[in-house]
Parts: sequence; structure tokens; C-alpha cells
Amino acid sequence: MPENTPHTPQHRTGWVSRSNPRLYSPRNIERYGDLIVDKAHRWAWKLDNDQLQDLYLRHVSAQHLEIGPADLHFLDHTPAPALEHQWQVDVLDINTAPLEAARHKLKGRAQVQLHEHDVLALPWPTKKRHYHSLAIGNVLHCVPGAGFSAKGTAIQGMAEALADDGVAWGYTLTSAQDPSTRTNRLARALMWHYNRIDNTFHNRGDRLADLERELKRHFASLQVWPMGAAAVFVAAEPIR
Ligand SMILES: C[S@@+](CC[C@H](N)C(=O)[O-])C[C@H]1O[C@@H](n2cnc3c(N)ncnc32)[C@H](O)[C@@H]1O
Repeated sequence: MPENTPHTPQHRTGWVSRSNPRLYSPRNIERYGDLIVDKAHRWAWKLDNDQLQDLYLRHVSAQHLEIGPADLHFLDHTPAPALEHQWQVDVLDINTAPLEAARHKLKGRAQVQLHEHDVLALPWPTKKRHYHSLAIGNVLHCVPGAGFSAKGTAIQGMAEALADDGVAWGYTLTSAQDPSTRTNRLARALMWHYNRIDNTFHNRGDRLADLERELKRHFASLQVWPMGAAAVFVAAEPIR
């Protein structure tokens, strides 16, 4: 268990989601880059990893909050924006193996704080109005809820955590039924399968237009666009 992580029962009792230590096991986190970032992004989800990496290269700051890192692939491939003692990276995840992977990968690069917490459960244990950058990649399609209005607390949490002049970005796989979602046979088969397995995907009701509406409730500046089977967004100017 991460040492500097709140494990108090009140966090768990407020949780909406359940952790999934079998899926996000240390072994699967080790294989995540190869199986998911390299293969699934390319063959199923049609995600352009260069464009996703570019979001980090453009926006990462010395006060960064990473939500749901899995193997921390993109942040790990981002040059540090500050020296080790000046780069603060907070990491929030409901599963412990991704938190430990982040601690390991950021060792010697940043001052790291780990938070074992459900992104749907407010308040987050992170700082408020503090982070100049925040990334939440491929997390919202994993959390329970029939559509983005049911996942709105995660978006509210982002706005509460972000500094007034900070930038938040993310991407999430939208429903195969959404006209904005581009799917091939493999993507449709995987989405169907992962939505049937307990506590893996919950994106049957996730539509890009609803994501945009929820984000607009919390951010005055917003760009949302489709990329393959996902919606990508960059949000700023949190509404208080
Ligand atoms: C599919 S991986 C995304 C990895 C990476 N961010 C990326 O862009 O590829 C989902 C991550 O979100 C975390 N996660 C899933 N449900 C969560 C929840 N309810 N609260 C916080 N983290 C969650 C998982 O543990 C995992 O690290």
C-alpha cells in the first residue's frame, strides 16, 4: 500500500466505484503499455498516441495531477517541466498497483503524493484550486454510471482541483452507439465484452455531446473532439 495515501474508512464508505485489483494487478500494469497503449489504441480504438502525448508535452506543469495512470505511459514519456524538488505530481487512483507504478516511475524525477480514491467520490483528497495541469486519460469509461451526467462528480472534482489558470485534458471511449464514435469490428467486440465483464467498462451510455455538456457546466473554456472510438477534451477556466 502507498505510505502517503489516505486509507481512512470514510474515504471508502463514500466511494461509488469499486476497486479492481485483479484487472489492475502489478502484472497487468507491466503489460499495459504493450497490450493497451501500443496494440489496443492502434488496432481497436484508433487513438493517435502522438496526439495524446502532445497534450502532455504542451500542458504539463510543475504542479500536476494525474488521475488513473495505469502504467503512467504518457507522463513517463514527458520531459520534467522542473527540477526534481520543484516538480510536484499528485496521483489519484482507486487501485493500488497503478499508484505504485507511478511512484516507481517518478522516483528521482518529482515529489510525488499518492491518493487512493474513487474519482466519483467528492471531495477528492487532493488540493483545491491548486494544480496547473491535470490529466484524466481513459478513466471515465471505466467508472460506473449510465452516461456522463451520472459521472458528473468526476468532472466537478477536476474543476475543484484545477487552479484558475490551469489546464485539464483527457480522453474517454464513448459508446459504440454514439454517432461520434468510430468503431471497427474489433472495437465493437471488445466494448461489448468489456461492458459485460463485472467492473471493467461502463460506457454504453457515454455520448460525446453529453460529455461536452457536463464539461461546459464546470469549465468556461473547452474543446472537445472525436478521435477514433474516443472523445478528447481540453478544458480551462474552471467555473467557481
Ligand atoms: C484504462 S486505465 C487508463 C490509463 C491511462 N491514464 C491512459 O491514458 O491510458 C484506467 C485507470 O483508471 C483507474 N480507475 C478506474 N476506475 C477508477 C475510479 N473510479 N477512480 C479512480 N481511478 C480509477 C484504473 O485503476 C486505471 O489506472
